[in-house]
Amino acid sequence: MSFLNIFYHPAWVVSTVVLALVVRLQRRAHWDPKSCSVRLTGKTAVVTGANTGIGKFIALDFARRGARVILACRSEARGTAALNEIRQISGNPDVHLRLLDVSSMDSVREFAKRFLEEEKALHILVNNAAVSGLPREITKDGFEASYATNHLGPFLLTNLLLDLMKQSAPARIVTVSSTNHHRGQVDFSHFHGENLVHFMDNVYNNTKLHNIICTNELARRLSNTGVTANSVHPGVVKTEVMRHYSLWLRCIFNTVGFFFFKSPEEGAVSPIYCAVSEELEGVTGKYFDSDCSLVLPAPLARDAALAVKDFEFCERLTSKL
Ligand SMILES: NC(=O)c1ccc[n+]([C@@H]2O[C@H](COP(=O)([O-])OP(=O)(O)OC[C@H]3O[C@@H](n4cnc5c(N)ncnc54)[C@H](OP(=O)(O)O)[C@@H]3O)[C@@H](O)[C@H]2O)c1
Repeated sequence: MSFLNIFYHPAWVVSTVVLALVVRLQRRAHWDPKSCSVRLTGKTAVVTGANTGIGKFIALDFARRGARVILACRSEARGTAALNEIRQISGNPDVHLRLLDVSSMDSVREFAKRFLEEEKALHILVNNAAVSGLPREITKDGFEASYATNHLGPFLLTNLLLDLMKQSAPARIVTVSSTNHHRGQVDFSHFHGENLVHFMDNVYNNTKLHNIICTNELARRLSNTGVTANSVHPGVVKTEVMRHYSLWLRCIFNTVGFFFFKSPEEGAVSPIYCAVSEELEGVTGKYFDSDCSLVLPAPLARDAALAVKDFEFCERLTSKL
């Protein structure tokens, strides 16, 4: 057993779960969306992966605030169900579904093209869609599927919508990352599925680290444009995020989660905070914890030289497609 395998020992998994419980019990968000009176009337927001989990509650909050909300989902059936629910609960008819598979660069380009043809502005982009625990798979673009879904698709989408966001400024980009990025690694061969260990949340952790690294570099490039870019951890949240894991792990997650983990509505609080709160006006290139506090991300996510390299690498990967 190599040293790293210790971290995937069941005892370590159990201790991580216990730690998560403690974090859950101790940390309550200092910000409450219900007592935030910010209105989004006249604003347009895009939320990826808005048909379930955290994304659905982010979109619902924006709809309640009067925004024009675009649910960017890959399944027409699941997206339509969420669309109807959000329209009904919020009473806002200006909520729309657009199909987007973030793992496919063609789909991202198609979505962005239609969006730019149809929409006059974009004030909030929440890159929320992600997967965890996928087995090894290479997309037709030649990318490892989790990297394509969690990082390259959102990276390309953001870049394609950037000019419109600049024109719409003030505007905010929110990347839903994870505290798991602390266990992530950077190796550029991973993007093509090389030298990766597909075990537990290993690959997911790497992608969540790239999320923060590139969001920080994006923020640097966007200085003085009126567009901010921040990353956020939503907490340990009882959603469908474990759907690709083994039955026993899902059972543990769901059982423990039933009692202690955040609900998707609670998990949406820190991303909503980053997207709408008045106190974050002009704040950019930061990482926020699930209790809405400003915290330092992992050392690799603070390496400015690495960020430039990573961003340029992802630009090259996505620009040739
Ligand atoms: N839950 C947690 O404990 C936790 C902790 C830390 C961070 N996060 C982050 O929070 C975000 C939301 O996760 P969640 O917990 O709400 O998970 P979830 O319930 O599994 O929801 C994920 C969403 O992403 C969508 N999605 C997945 N692949 C997609 C693709 N290729 N194209 C378009 N949409 C796609 C899913 O659509 P389908 O329904 O069609 O699959 C779903 O709407 C993620 O970025 C995740 O990394 C979650």
